[in-house]
Amino acid sequence: MDINEIIYKRRTIRKFKQKSISIEILKKLLDFARVAPMGSNIQSIEFIIVKDPKIREKLFPLVKWAAFLPKKERTPEIGRRPTAYIIVLLNSKIKKTDLAYFDLGAAVENILLGAVNFKIGSCWMGSIERDKIRLLFEIPDYYDIKHVISLGYPDEKSVMESYKGSFKYWKDDDNIMHVPKRNLDDIILKIY
Ligand SMILES: Cc1cc2nc3c(=O)[nH]c(=O)nc-3n(C[C@H](O)[C@H](O)[C@H](O)COP(=O)(O)O)c2cc1C
Repeated sequence: MDINEIIYKRRTIRKFKQKSISIEILKKLLDFARVAPMGSNIQSIEFIIVKDPKIREKLFPLVKWAAFLPKKERTPEIGRRPTAYIIVLLNSKIKKTDLAYFDLGAAVENILLGAVNFKIGSCWMGSIERDKIRLLFEIPDYYDIKHVISLGYPDEKSVMESYKGSFKYWKDDDNIMHVPKRNLDDIILKIY
């Protein structure tokens, strides 16, 4: 896949086939994150890989799904849950800086795009129970727990559509997710 295809193909996926992702691929995704641009080249982002089924079961209730969908359609059912997670941390011992938030965005996007290249779907998750995640993984205080990335081979379809006044994604009768995106001409304020 070329970069053009990868960028347009990436959609958030929240239902997954139960085929496991190899540790080699998961480490490769983190290697994509490692080389992302970082403010002042300070690299305070670190990760936890969660692949073990028993630990996955404990992490699953600590992440919240698809707030725009009706309640009963949000959370992936047993048999369609993520087969891996990446927990995204900031290590304040390396440096505490506001720039780290931008670094984190760049690193996570590298992971999501890299995943598409391996035909893996992902969901970047900010709605997570940080205190419980800290306890579960015994994460020291000097780590800021930022996000979780849920991963797995896709078991749902999601398509982009043109923005028509609402940013809310929605599912049609065939269970296909529709994600409104603003048009190119609408986001270009000026051209000189
Ligand atoms: C910072 C951030 C936090 C997000 N948090 C969640 C979340 O907690 N749960 C969830 O289901 N999706 C979450 N998403 C996924 C967004 O809902 C999704 O990216 C958006 O609807 C656009 O869809 P797309 O990724 O297919 O373009 C998050 C995305 C971002 C960038």
